[in-house]
Amino acid sequence: KIESKGNDWVSAEHSTGKSTATNTAAVYDVIVIGAGAAGLMTAITAANRGRSVLLLDHAKQAGKKILISGGGRCNFTNLYASPENYLSQNPHFCKSALKRYTQWDFIALVDKHQIPWHEKTLGQLFCDHSAKDIVNMLLSECRQAGVKVQLRTEIFGVSNQNEGYQLATSQGDFQANKLIVACGGLSMPKLGATPFGYKLAEQFGHSIIPVRAGLVPFTLHERDKEQLAELSGVATDVVASNDRTSFREALLFTHRGVSGPAILQISSYWLPGERVSINLLPDQDLYSWLQEAKQSQPRVLLSNALSQLLPKRLVQVLARYAGWPDQRLADLSNSTMQAIAHSLNEWPLLPNGTEGYRTAEVTLGGVNVDEISSKTMESKLQPGLFFVGEVLDVTGWLGGYNFQWAWSSGWVAGQSV
Ligand code: FDA
Repeated sequence: KIESKGNDWVSAEHSTGKSTATNTAAVYDVIVIGAGAAGLMTAITAANRGRSVLLLDHAKQAGKKILISGGGRCNFTNLYASPENYLSQNPHFCKSALKRYTQWDFIALVDKHQIPWHEKTLGQLFCDHSAKDIVNMLLSECRQAGVKVQLRTEIFGVSNQNEGYQLATSQGDFQANKLIVACGGLSMPKLGATPFGYKLAEQFGHSIIPVRAGLVPFTLHERDKEQLAELSGVATDVVASNDRTSFREALLFTHRGVSGPAILQISSYWLPGERVSINLLPDQDLYSWLQEAKQSQPRVLLSNALSQLLPKRLVQVLARYAGWPDQRLADLSNSTMQAIAHSLNEWPLLPNGTEGYRTAEVTLGGVNVDEISSKTMESKLQPGLFFVGEVLDVTGWLGGYNFQWAWSSGWVAGQSV
């Protein structure tokens, strides 16, 4: 016997987390697995269209990544978000959703809830106060729309019969015609990340584009790490580039290697074994500058001359690391100046690897989008099954782009179920 729960929704606050397991299944129009950014947006949109929606998560709190994002202030979107800011095997896939639910739509929602925000840099929008404002906004929207948010729910298995989806969980059995997979990627397992979304996709015949950590700091080989360790905490403006792309932002030396926005950005375009070119003086052709300085200040030592352009500590450590002679500029040969200029304008950094999912902000790869409708986020292989957010092979740059993808893909799916 199948028992319909009708409109008997409880909000997150009212959810007790106690087992309500029975041998009957509660029926909903839509079940969303994952109460992160994408799952919350899908649930709100579907419920606002009159669908009965159950939003499940194994965590004890909804939107955990939102809460810690942007240093606790959530970089919730980017003024300049457009398809060029996303990586995917199929770069066209994200276009439709990003166009249908834009950054301006999300800003309008934030404004409706009177959440104060500001642009920090490069179009990145942050809450003035706290990321909690965004989670509270989404939960309040869930409440108003009648979404049942059920946390602390472990999903044992999903099956599909008679065009519906049956879920066996630690809180009982549930059934729906439409199932939304919003389980995110693998980054930050301590916040509840699991491969559940990928496994579910495979169960229903989907292929997975190989996953790897993105927006992640680089680790260095032992020798480099030892020599550069003293620089831990030093930040400087750089251009980080490889054959495919380049980013101008800050680089931060850490006790494990290098981080900072420029490194996180290029890490998503990096493959193991490749070098990354770092221009530590993006506004300076150093060779020309050294030639001029040799004329105008011939008695100045190289280290003092370079300290006019870069932090002194950075110059001292890099000089030792690269083995530059600390001579008067007048005594430097052209070839030595060329070598010094090369090592600062095109430092060929060879990462040992990345810090991996432990600190990565995102997971590259995921459910193959060629098997998903870009208009609805529905599986082309399995009717009634939808994928939204980071579980898909769509990954944004650093700067609010990943949340925008979660909102856009979630909204599109919510409109379709
Ligand atoms: P998300 O990971 O948010 O949600 C997935 C949900 O599924 C989680 O609630 C999880 O508990 C649940 N789940 C997983 N497995 C499950 C299972 N087996 N059973 C039940 N539930 C399960 N982006 C950005 O645009 N601006 C920013 O400022 C930041 N900052 C940032 C900081 C840090 C530290 C990280 C790690 C990430 C960011 N990001 C970001 C990236 C952003 O957080 C990320 O892209 C989105 O949260 C993805 O949203 P999803 O809803 O797809 O997954």
